[in-house]
Amino acid sequence: MAKPRTIFSCQNCGAQSPRWIGRCPECGQWNTYAEEIEAVEARRDTAPGSTSTVIALSEIKADEGRHIPTGIAELDRVLGSGYIPGGVALVGGDPGIGKSTIIMQALARVAASGAKALYVSGEESAAQIKLRAERMNISNAQIAVLTENCVERIIEQIRATKPAIVAIDSIQTMYTNDLQSAPGTIGQVRESAAKILALAKQTNTAAFLVGHVTKDGAIAGPKVLEHMVDTVLYFEGERGHSFRILRTMKNRFGSTNEIGVFEMTGQGLKEVSDPSGIFLAEKPKAAAGSVVAASLEGSRPLLLEVQALVCSSGFGTPRRTAIGIDAGRLALLIAVLEKLEGLQLRDQDVFLNVAGGVRITEPAADLAVIAAIDSSFRNKPVDHETVVIGEVGLAGEIRAVMGVEMRVKEAEKMGFRRVIVPKSNLKGKFSTKIELLGATTVTECLRLL
Ligand code: TYD
Ligand code: MG
Repeated sequence: MAKPRTIFSCQNCGAQSPRWIGRCPECGQWNTYAEEIEAVEARRDTAPGSTSTVIALSEIKADEGRHIPTGIAELDRVLGSGYIPGGVALVGGDPGIGKSTIIMQALARVAASGAKALYVSGEESAAQIKLRAERMNISNAQIAVLTENCVERIIEQIRATKPAIVAIDSIQTMYTNDLQSAPGTIGQVRESAAKILALAKQTNTAAFLVGHVTKDGAIAGPKVLEHMVDTVLYFEGERGHSFRILRTMKNRFGSTNEIGVFEMTGQGLKEVSDPSGIFLAEKPKAAAGSVVAASLEGSRPLLLEVQALVCSSGFGTPRRTAIGIDAGRLALLIAVLEKLEGLQLRDQDVFLNVAGGVRITEPAADLAVIAAIDSSFRNKPVDHETVVIGEVGLAGEIRAVMGVEMRVKEAEKMGFRRVIVPKSNLKGKFSTKIELLGATTVTECLRLL
């Protein structure tokens, strides 16, 4: 083994340098370099599970890619109908959001189906884990528990007990003996994950890695992990709300953009199979500034209430606050309203909120945002039985959105009477009992409302 050398690596993106630098040339962040001691020899030259010999594609046996359901439908949906033997999934999210909870529940289900499950914790004592399990009524589940931080010893245990599925909670608390730097540093996180990944591929064990998220939203330090693993799931939700959304950011075995919806209860996370109903449950009937949008998350339509509050600004620059949608998008839509609809928003504060602590990531909700701001500004409620769908362009034109039929069907299912959709979306005919109104411009839509 070659002599260990000291290197500096960026704790944000993993870039390395032989000396300390103030600003990372790769990711542009300041003060992210930390000293680490690296074993020079620890370089692998073959990818885990590779053979080093050329073989014909047609001769490769594809017995992988078979999903095994965990039994939690909302989790299976984001994984792409279940876990994969040998597949490694990273579950990221803020501390306290429910990562350990969902993983425990998943393992309990898998164990109940007769497969061996191992839960490795580097954060909590066995007693704490037992307490959590009791809270969720899974204390009798056949889950094996290991409290350990050293990857080599974990691997030893996995090889000895041969679980079908293993969870590492969390990857930031793990260290490998190959490196002398502290657990949690980028080198440690990367090497620990690489070792577990290699083991998962060799032994055909499914693995969940739990990862904490830094304040800027990246899965802590290990952005590097995101491209090593097969699946990246991200747990989100607003503090103070009980809803939690599990989002697929990357999936080598299924589609991305899927979401799973959960509610945090006293007995762990409960699946929410009818999210639209829950998100609309508290919608006021005749309040100005409240409009229902139909968002599409992967294959799942979701009706959400967009709320706007426009009020005269006290002093200086007016405030624009967006919760649940991108702030840049809000600024753009306000500009469209000012320029094309002549709304005097210059001296008005605009607050926008998506009810239920949900985040909308697609532009199909633009029109609902516009309608909500307009409604609040004029203090005129929008008909509460209407759903508004459409992307808005800079010239005030309404652009077609994908999956209009699914969105309309969801509105129909939830008992709405009218849907305003982009006119160009009306060309492909589909049958619905609901009234469909096409609009080509923002002006036209606001007139319809
Ligand atoms: P946890 O899964 O430990 O979060 P993470 O692993 O992401 O840090 O969840 C912690 C929070 O969830 C904690 O604030 C308590 C709450 N909780 C419940 O409300 N009900 C429950 O049944 C459980 C297990 C946790
Ligand atoms: Mg935890």
